[in-house]
Amino acid sequence: MLDDDVTRLNLTLGEPTGVTLDPDMWGIFFEDINWSLDGGLNAELLRNGDFAFTPADHAGWGPLTAWQATGGGSVEIRTEDPVHPNNGTYVRVAGPVTLTNEGFDAVRVHMDDAFRLTAFTWRVQGVGEASVALVDAAGAALAEAPFVTPAEGWHEASLDLTATAEGLGRLAITVPRGLVLELDMLSLRPLGEGGEPLTFRQDLVDVLRDLKPSFVRFPGGCVAHGLGLGNLYHWKQTVGPRESRVPSFNTWGYHQTRQIGYLEYFELCELLGATAMPIVAAGVSCQNLRGRAACIPMADMPAYVQDILDLVEFANGGTDTTWGARRAQLGHPEPFGLRLLGLGNEDEITRDFEERYAMVASALADRHPEITVIGTAGPQPFGPDFEDGWAFAREQRVAIVDEHAYRTPRWFHQNLDRYDSYDRSGPAVYFGEYAARTNNVRSAMAEAAFMTTMERNGDIVRLASYAPLLARLGTTQWVPDMIYFDADRVLLTASYHVQRMFSVERGEDVLSVEVDGVVDVPVPPRAEGTVRLSAPGARVKVSDATIDGVGLEAVDVDDAEVTLGAIGADGIVQFTATRVDGQEGMVIRLGGTGAEDFLQVDIGSWQNKTTVVHSFADGISNDIDGPYAWSGMSTDVPVTVRVALEGERIRVWVDGELRHDVAEDRRPETRVVAGCTTRTAEDGMREYVVRMVNATDDARQATLALPTGAAGWVGKATVLAGAGPDEGQPFEASPIEPQEIEIALAAGQALELPAWSLTVAVLREA
Ligand code: AHR
Repeated sequence: MLDDDVTRLNLTLGEPTGVTLDPDMWGIFFEDINWSLDGGLNAELLRNGDFAFTPADHAGWGPLTAWQATGGGSVEIRTEDPVHPNNGTYVRVAGPVTLTNEGFDAVRVHMDDAFRLTAFTWRVQGVGEASVALVDAAGAALAEAPFVTPAEGWHEASLDLTATAEGLGRLAITVPRGLVLELDMLSLRPLGEGGEPLTFRQDLVDVLRDLKPSFVRFPGGCVAHGLGLGNLYHWKQTVGPRESRVPSFNTWGYHQTRQIGYLEYFELCELLGATAMPIVAAGVSCQNLRGRAACIPMADMPAYVQDILDLVEFANGGTDTTWGARRAQLGHPEPFGLRLLGLGNEDEITRDFEERYAMVASALADRHPEITVIGTAGPQPFGPDFEDGWAFAREQRVAIVDEHAYRTPRWFHQNLDRYDSYDRSGPAVYFGEYAARTNNVRSAMAEAAFMTTMERNGDIVRLASYAPLLARLGTTQWVPDMIYFDADRVLLTASYHVQRMFSVERGEDVLSVEVDGVVDVPVPPRAEGTVRLSAPGARVKVSDATIDGVGLEAVDVDDAEVTLGAIGADGIVQFTATRVDGQEGMVIRLGGTGAEDFLQVDIGSWQNKTTVVHSFADGISNDIDGPYAWSGMSTDVPVTVRVALEGERIRVWVDGELRHDVAEDRRPETRVVAGCTTRTAEDGMREYVVRMVNATDDARQATLALPTGAAGWVGKATVLAGAGPDEGQPFEASPIEPQEIEIALAAGQALELPAWSLTVAVLREA
């Protein structure tokens, strides 16, 4: 439908608002989640090359995970005499044995491709030589070379393999009969054009570089503070020769080789032309551990504080300083110019956290005033940790606070005014992790709309990064992600294109924009529906149940959802729940239109230690109240639950205690948004960078005017459009690609904004 009255949109670009965008505004969040580093950006092709996997990484994993031995000889795991005490396990191979590594996938080998194998070897006894090859599934060699292993003692071996055939290969090391070798720290990397082994996977670096990020946040996320003190990310354990680095389990259920450590992270930033933003633990580990966060004992805090000061010296110190000299010794005499550093990640704001945060922050302020420290405000854009985190940040006079928001598209469209009313006298905001919860066009447009308002509020929102960035297909722990990949392919999502369109064209000064013709989309009142119960990870007997006073049969509940009965938009459900088996609590879903739009109450979510209320929109969850700590469900101990729905309000009592009293946000969604910044082009002319988001089913005809009246506009625009809101899925490439168009508009002439589109136009007055 192209009815002019419905679809016309008049944008009046006004005066500068006085807001100037931080040149650091758009950056990237990098965490080793979803195999994004080991198995991803790290160009290493061998998996478990250091025989260091353990069941702590993943149940069932061990030193020989990813290795297969054939041939009748023996492979023994040893720990007696390791290459380095930080890497305790290695193998002794007595031929005849062929040891094959499955890699992260088979390696795609093209003719003349070159690879470097490095390893520590110890010839224990025997004569003859081992050999290495990349072999295909049928056992044919695609590349092969002798593996010369000097006599007794650990020796570093290095050899190059050049492909003489094409195919999918895996590394195979053949040790002949009579030869006994010890092996550790194996690595296989492709060689770059200059013949050097690649540190980073090139196709992934290319798409990251195309984003033109201003900063790179690393190493997390949760990985930064880890599960327990032993898993906290200590930068010093990640620099120096590989054998001296300390591998660790990854909080996302796999292994961190630490082959990419702090030096390589800093070098990645250089490669991408971005500034580094390390996130260090604030002296406490992640609270998502059974038994809560672990804190570095106060007696050990001075040493931890010193570690962080040393990190700054490692990044910035002259070569006459201890850690600057270490950096130079590792091959990078020039300083990295570190300016930003995050302290903590989504931490629970406890006294323990506050004390330790304050110790680190004050030492940094004293010794390194050049570093801007970024504080943390919990995992959600509201709630107890958010409020406490902000209050603490104000008290501490923190420069910037890291806010996170994994929310529904609806939340983004309802909260476009979020930053308009933020207190300008306190800390600024780093919107450090956000995503509109899936990879479809609807989500990408919601993110674009919100980004437009972040620019409008660029005086308070100084930095932002979508999260997570990368995910290897088949090994994801978190969706959505911005970029998916496998061994051969890189799949860019619609969210990637949105990020890129904002990042590559940036203005400097924000203009006020009046948008005439926007009709907000109402959110309908909650519909009638049913009450559904489930107990993932437990078995629960539900008795004495009533809905609006009408008694119901007792039911047994487990993983599968059971319908208890019907409930209106208003109504009361109550019951007694007794766990008979399992470790977890239960879930209640109420009302709405089934799969798309309903309320959910978790009685014992997240390791059976909290209660939470969620509101689902378009099938995607938003936490709207909690999580609030709870003692949890115990086997054979009855719990009474009562939930009352009253229009938008939902109240939840557990054992007679009112735990939640919250109103759902059913404000209309603003789906058409525009923003404008200006900049001075190289030729001295003024350019307008206009962002226009149309997240509706109808194309809009947009006119652009200046208060002075413009004769017309010339320039170019990038348009991301062409698919409906539900197209695009996790693990797939975007259904839409940005298109470049030339623009020449006479005064008053309209530019079409297609349905479900983002347009970024760079214009000059004609
Ligand atoms: O981005 C994935 C995870 O989300 C991060 O590790 C954590 O900070 C957040 O909860």
